[in-house]
Amino acid sequence: MGADPPFADIRLPAGGPAGQPAGVAAASVAQVSVTRRYERIAAAYDLLNGPMERAGTLARRRRIVGRAVGDTLEVGAGTGRNLALYRPDVRLTATDVAPAMLERARRRAAGAPVPVRLERADVQRLPYPNGSFDTVLATCVFCSVPDPVAGLRELRRVVRPDGRVLLLEHVRPRNAILGRVADVLSLATSRLLGPHLNRRTEDNVRAAGLRIVEVCAEGIWREIVAGP
Ligand SMILES: C[S@@+](CC[C@H](N)C(=O)[O-])C[C@H]1O[C@@H](n2cnc3c(N)ncnc32)[C@H](O)[C@@H]1O
Repeated sequence: MGADPPFADIRLPAGGPAGQPAGVAAASVAQVSVTRRYERIAAAYDLLNGPMERAGTLARRRRIVGRAVGDTLEVGAGTGRNLALYRPDVRLTATDVAPAMLERARRRAAGAPVPVRLERADVQRLPYPNGSFDTVLATCVFCSVPDPVAGLRELRRVVRPDGRVLLLEHVRPRNAILGRVADVLSLATSRLLGPHLNRRTEDNVRAAGLRIVEVCAEGIWREIVAGP
């Protein structure tokens, strides 16, 4: 473990077809295409997200990431936009399913205030024992995961009984008309870029057996604190 792991230190399990972590490809054709999409857009991801970050996402990230304590797992860490925001006493494992995203996170890990262990992992099938982490965190991930309830169940499994699951996610608008608009737009965004705009993430969190402790709602954004 180190603050600046060389690329060779990113653990890549033996891949199945399309470079999926072993055991996943056969189970999820949908995940293969999500992973491919993020592989394709990795180089442009930060540029595409710049306006959204400046419009409030960065402030939301700071709030939710600042709550992480102890042994922390970040899933779907992407290009590592959160790495600079952790408190210095956190011990961080950051994971993603797309190697091109992880490669960008590796560059950011060099400047992070915490040691970062980077690993490739599918959140629907995490390679960690039950109750391994004090905090499990995801930002803007469950809009893209093909089976979000399966992924959230995994967060519940790997967090300690007194630990916290921290989520920052955009969700389907509550307004009926805007909800329908999100349903239609989502057909395009999920095919072209990866994210769905109409996920009912609070319902999914409950369906996964997590207990919601706190929710901060702002428009389509939710900052969710949950326990197992
Ligand atoms: C919209 S990006 C968000 C990245 C980062 N969390 C952020 O806040 O900028 C979604 C990320 O989820 C990852 N992802 C998609 N499906 C995944 C899965 N099943 N397991 C782990 N990561 C996944 C993608 O590779 C991508 O990096």
